[in-house]
Order: sequence, then structure tokens, then C-alpha cells
Amino acid sequence: MEIKPIKSFQKTVTVAPDKSITHRAIMFNAIANGKATIKNALMGEDCLATIECMRSLGARIEIEGDVVSVFGTKRLNSSSLYVGNSGTTFRLLTGLLAGADGQFTIDGDASIRRRPMKRVINPLALMGADLKSFDGKAPVIINGKKLKGINYDMPVASAQVKSAILLAGMNADGITTVTEKVRSRNHTELMLEAMGAKIWAEKGRVSIMRSTLNPLDITVPGDVSSGAYPLVLASCLDGATVTVKKMGINPTRTGLLSVLKNCGITPVFSSKKKNAEPSADVTVSYGEKKPFTIDKPIIPYLIDEIPVLAVLACFIEGESVIRGAEELKVKESNRIDTTVNALKAMGADITATDDGMIIRGKGYLKGGATIDPVGDHRIAMAMSVAGALSQEGVEILSPECVAVSYPNFFELFEE
Ligand code: S3P
Repeated sequence: MEIKPIKSFQKTVTVAPDKSITHRAIMFNAIANGKATIKNALMGEDCLATIECMRSLGARIEIEGDVVSVFGTKRLNSSSLYVGNSGTTFRLLTGLLAGADGQFTIDGDASIRRRPMKRVINPLALMGADLKSFDGKAPVIINGKKLKGINYDMPVASAQVKSAILLAGMNADGITTVTEKVRSRNHTELMLEAMGAKIWAEKGRVSIMRSTLNPLDITVPGDVSSGAYPLVLASCLDGATVTVKKMGINPTRTGLLSVLKNCGITPVFSSKKKNAEPSADVTVSYGEKKPFTIDKPIIPYLIDEIPVLAVLACFIEGESVIRGAEELKVKESNRIDTTVNALKAMGADITATDDGMIIRGKGYLKGGATIDPVGDHRIAMAMSVAGALSQEGVEILSPECVAVSYPNFFELFEE
């Protein structure tokens, strides 16, 4: 895919529906008592993998455009499940199946087989689960067991791990409590509560008891992680303005908007909807910017936006620093390396560190490189934005990986 430098960007856009919320709406409704309708569901590859897995487990799921009807199942079939590239599907399923009656195998693509799974296997084992893996990596074989509740202090801030433990807790005797030092996205808690689960949150911790779920109809908001691309593009291109319609603004996800504000670009909100998952039309315009520092406490609120935040830093004169972000190493690719190498190839002055990166922004990027995103959707999209803002453009190899989370992404660059 060739991305040419763009001259102007004045648009109102609708970005891909939220991936995290779509996964959960499909998975939780698939085990609920009845039928639910999910509107504006993300039909990206990751969520399609969740649909296929839940069908194999016994749920009936019908798709019409972006409307998904889910008929929950009480019994889960023993089965072999394939999650493709989707870490969220993988980790949430381990928790969902640990206490189910049956035997299950979960596997995925080459990237999934490299990603750490001990972070879910270890706490689930404390609950009495029987999960076998290949030295902590996929595939994982689950023999459903009777589970007991635990108190678990999360060693890493991860919504996938927290969600896996809470889903297992819904099938366990006693109370399961997860404590987080840094709060990760809370879509699981919000949705399980709305579905009638016995779940409660207090400062820094969330607890759950054995529960069954009622079906929940939901309209999924736009994904702030997808909105990040046009928002950064407009922030860096002289004269640009963009409005992202109906974008999710759950405060556990909006670290990017805080960084933009601290840099001098103030996002403007209109048509706010105060649902459990709030949303708004968000407008951002080009302006003067100052460098930024991102530190550990805010990392979970913007973890997937760091590649495109590194692009933003290239267009701000001066030194920007991202630290406390070692989790980037275990995403779909090692995103410290893939981000730094791609931006270096485009002429950026950027250094990888053990827990992040340092960007000495020049206010421009040369471009003129061919980038291999190694199958990582967020690298392909962040580097496309970098190319559009650069002097010479960029060529992205195997660009189809964007379909994991944002199938229509390249339409952003159409005149
Ligand atoms: C996700 C949580 C995050 C994020 C991923 C989606 C989720 O991962 O990076 O894209 O939907 O729970 P971690 O939980 O590993 O931080």
C-alpha cells in the first residue's frame, strides 16, 4: 500500500467500532440466558474469531451487516478453538472455560504462540484450574475443574488478565477479588454488572461471585484506539480539523486525549452520551504543540496508542519520552522495536529504551521508506499516518493486517 503525503485533512469520520467492547458483548451474551442484539459490532478479524469460537462452544450467532444476534447457550461443547491473532479472545476464553464442564484446546497464529500466557495460567491455577501449555505459551489445553475464589494482586496492569480471572470467578465457589495497582480498562466489569452478575468494585479492586448472565442489547461506540489515527493526523497537519463521530470516551481508555491536551491540542466534545460506556463526537484541530512525557500510571489508558503517539512526537520539536511501557514488548509484535525501527527508517531521531522510547522530534518526517509491519495492525496504521504526514510518503507491506481491528482504515486517506 502506497501512502502519499497529504496536503489537507478536513473531515468528519466514523471509525471502526470498539474492539474490546465487541469481543465482550459477543462472548458474554453467548453464555447468557436468552437472545441479545449487538448493533455497530466490529466485524474485524479478531472479533470474527471470537464469534467462531463461541459458535464452536455451542452459541447460535447470526450476522447481518454490523448487527450480530447472539443466542446464549447453557452448556459449552468440548472443542478445539482457534483465535487467529486475538490475544483478547485467547485470554478471556481461558477464564471462561477453566470452570466449565469439558475439555478445550485454544490455539492461535504465530504471534499468539509467542505471547505470554502464564499471566492467566498462574492465577487460574490458584483457583484450582487445570491448564496445560507449552512452557507458558499457546496452545493451551483446559480440563474444566471445580474452582474456588481467590484474592489476586495483579503483577501487570492487564484488562485481559483481570477479565479472565473475573470470568473464572463467575464459575467459582466463594468470592474472587482482583486488585490492581494501576487500573486497566473496565469494560468487563461494566458489562457483567449490566448483565446482572454479582460483581462490585471498590477503590483499586473488583470482586465477583458465582453468577448467571441476562442477555444485554448494546450499540457499540467507535473505538478510541482507531480514532487515534485521524486525531493524531489532524493534530500534526497544518490547517487540518477532524471530527470523530460517536467515539467511546470511557475514562480508562482516553489517555491519548489527555496527552494531546497536555501538548496544547484541546479535544472538543459534543453530543455526549452518558451510557455505561460513554461516547461523544470528538473534534481536534491542528495547533502548536510542546513535547510530552508519558509515565507508568497512564500507560494502560493508552497502551495501544503508543505507536501513533510516537508518530505525534516526531512532529513536535523537542524531546518526548515514553517510559514504564515494557508491556509493549509482548503485544502483537515487540512494539518498542517495531515502532522505533519503522520511524528511524523514515528519518526520525528516536531511541529504544528498555521500557519505552525517546523521540527527539524535528517537527517533520522525511519518509520515503518501505515498512514491514510484521503483521501488526497497529504498526501498519501508525506508520501509514506517519507516511501521510511525511515529505515523501511511505510504502506499507502486507497492509491487509489492518483488518484485525479497522477493516476500512485506508479510506481515511481518500480525498
Ligand atoms: C485489551 C486489553 C489490552 C489491549 C488489547 C485489548 C482488552 O491488553 O492492549 O488490545 O480488550 O482487554 P492487556 O490486557 O494485555 O494490557
